[in-house]
Amino acid sequence: MKLLVTGGAGFIGSNFVIYMLQQHPNYQIVNVDALTYAGNLENLKSIENHPNYSFVKADITDAQAIDQIFQQGIDIVVNFAAESHVDRSILEPEVFVKTNVLGTQVLLDASKRYGVTKYVQVSTDEVYGSLGETGLFMESTPLEPNSPYSASKAGGDLLVRAYHETFGLPVNITRCSNNYGPYQFPEKLIPLIISRAMSDQALPIYGDGLNIRDWLYVEDHCSAIDLVIHEGRVGEVYNIGGNNERTNLHIVKTILQELNKPESLITYVEDRLGHDRRYGIDPTKLVQELGWKPKHNFETGIKETIQWYLNNKDWWTRIQSGEYQGYQITQYGER
Ligand code: NAD
Ligand code: DAU
Repeated sequence: MKLLVTGGAGFIGSNFVIYMLQQHPNYQIVNVDALTYAGNLENLKSIENHPNYSFVKADITDAQAIDQIFQQGIDIVVNFAAESHVDRSILEPEVFVKTNVLGTQVLLDASKRYGVTKYVQVSTDEVYGSLGETGLFMESTPLEPNSPYSASKAGGDLLVRAYHETFGLPVNITRCSNNYGPYQFPEKLIPLIISRAMSDQALPIYGDGLNIRDWLYVEDHCSAIDLVIHEGRVGEVYNIGGNNERTNLHIVKTILQELNKPESLITYVEDRLGHDRRYGIDPTKLVQELGWKPKHNFETGIKETIQWYLNNKDWWTRIQSGEYQGYQITQYGER
């Protein structure tokens, strides 16, 4: 079985490549990544010489390069490659549309041409928009994306749906809540707060800090995708989440407590434009149909994650030292 993983040098993609090599020792994995600012081959050091692993540097919007990769004979595609950061999408929407919409279409076209047995689109709960105080996102919840990032992901999802309806491509779409764990780029809330708190820098909290995200340990996301690849009913969408809703302020205070740092580091800053108030996933379909069960409890998972960043300071200081072009681009100027 030959599995094409796109975006495998990013946070979730690299965890997924490592997970799949462990779970399926006979699978060959081809990792295709453009190595944007978020792609980091250091994440894959532990498996770079694995006989069943190979890496190709290519952009998913480059139809010719992608065609060449499919000529090797690809059975399954899992598309993680994306521009993934909401704040960047507010500053520079164009590249989000290119990668997340056009890139998806290029992959779908190649998958159709070469007749893959399964195409899995790794999407996000952000396509559903924002929840009020009650209720959860179901697979049937209408798509109401609010940021250029989530709109571009929704565009990708709709193309995936269309390639299934029009051409019969065997697809699944997964929509997961916020991930945390090792190798997350330190522009995202949890690694940003850990790294800044460790060096006693101010911790930027957007708005009132009471926005809610539903957190899932990255390995549990990987196990869900593995199940969807193999057991997911063709054409279906599966929500992924572990019922771990927390306010941003709760997350930041937990990190400060764990690191023994003062709450005076918390600094309220201007709110994110169009900031979604609350996300909450109903994973019942995945649990009941496919028997998925997350392994990680949030309270222990967050502690393990903090410990990982403490143990791997070199990994994130290299990123922050500017070796990875573009780290400084944020809505709020240089960090
Ligand atoms: P990330 O930004 O850490 O990694 C993205 C990877 O894609 C990088 O390695 C980057 O180099 C690569 N990439 C970007 N543009 C590319 C292009 N044009 N061609 C080839 N490669 C390209 O992102 P992540 O947090 O690991 O997210 C991975 C996927 O999961 C995304 O599709 C995202 O929408 C989705 N997702 C993320 C979360 C989360 O909490 N992080 C939750 C749900 C879904
Ligand atoms: O829900 C899934 C999504 O989760 C994924 O699709 C995205 O790719 C991923 O980036 C993530 O999006 P969020 O916008 O939820 O994640 P982020 O880490 O950027 O922010 C989490 C929350 O923390 C959000 O409410 C904004 C807030 N925040 C974030 C940063 C970076 C702050 O208050 N301060 C900050 O400095």
